[in-house]
Amino acid sequence: MRGRFVTFEGIEGAGKSTQLAEAARFLAARGIECEVTREPGGTPVAETLRRLLLEPQPEALDATAELLLVFTARAVHVANRIRPALERGAWVLCDRFTDATEAYQGAGRGLPAGQIRALESIAQHGLRPDLTLLFDLPVERALARAAARSTCSDRFESEERAFHERVRQGYLAILAREPGRLRRIDALPGPREVSAQVEDALEAAVADWRNGSADGR
Ligand SMILES: Nc1ncnc2c1ncn2[C@@H]1O[C@H](COP(=O)(O)OP(=O)(O)OP(=O)(O)O)[C@@H](O)[C@H]1O
Ligand SMILES: [Mg+2]
Repeated sequence: MRGRFVTFEGIEGAGKSTQLAEAARFLAARGIECEVTREPGGTPVAETLRRLLLEPQPEALDATAELLLVFTARAVHVANRIRPALERGAWVLCDRFTDATEAYQGAGRGLPAGQIRALESIAQHGLRPDLTLLFDLPVERALARAAARSTCSDRFESEERAFHERVRQGYLAILAREPGRLRRIDALPGPREVSAQVEDALEAAVADWRNGSADGR
């Protein structure tokens, strides 16, 4: 039976990577094989593209170039890693996916939603997450966490506050549009309280998956 594709989304410093590691342990303890990965990246070629996207570059990368690079990396990641893992029955836990493109390049940089939809259908061939956990909290709290974590910021972390606010609102708009796929996680409390919400969502997804298995789906 095909595994489930779970994505972790939210602004910088929201706690995605922290919770993803916890979620992998939680699922492994239930006997579920997990493939843990991230975007942009997840394969050698896609990680090379990640460095182009995140590190300061000697020339401008405009929003369109950024969008095309993101989807090039995604096409490689979906074909070479995500689909094969799902097909052998593993669950894939991915730190950011296409909702991040809609939030960052769409809401943040102002690219038309239609361009993102078009590239999504080319790069993913219909693959979409089964469950998306959206870690949500006020921008200033998330940026304070990110700043406390590291001294050097990447191309996105160094954006102005208003950019991050647009990104947060972009994510909330996706939640409003697709409440069945996205689940809002209140990312403001401490890590254990946040984990409890994540585990709730995963527990329900595991039960649904096992039922599907019993039905031969
Ligand atoms: N619930 C929490 N309360 C307080 N601090 C937290 C919480 N979750 C994570 N942190 C800390 O905040 C910082 C950012 O967390 P993390 O790296 O998991 O965020 P992220 O969403 O993956 O960020 P990015 O998008 O930049 O990768 C880390 O130093 C982490 O230890
Ligand atoms: Mg992270």
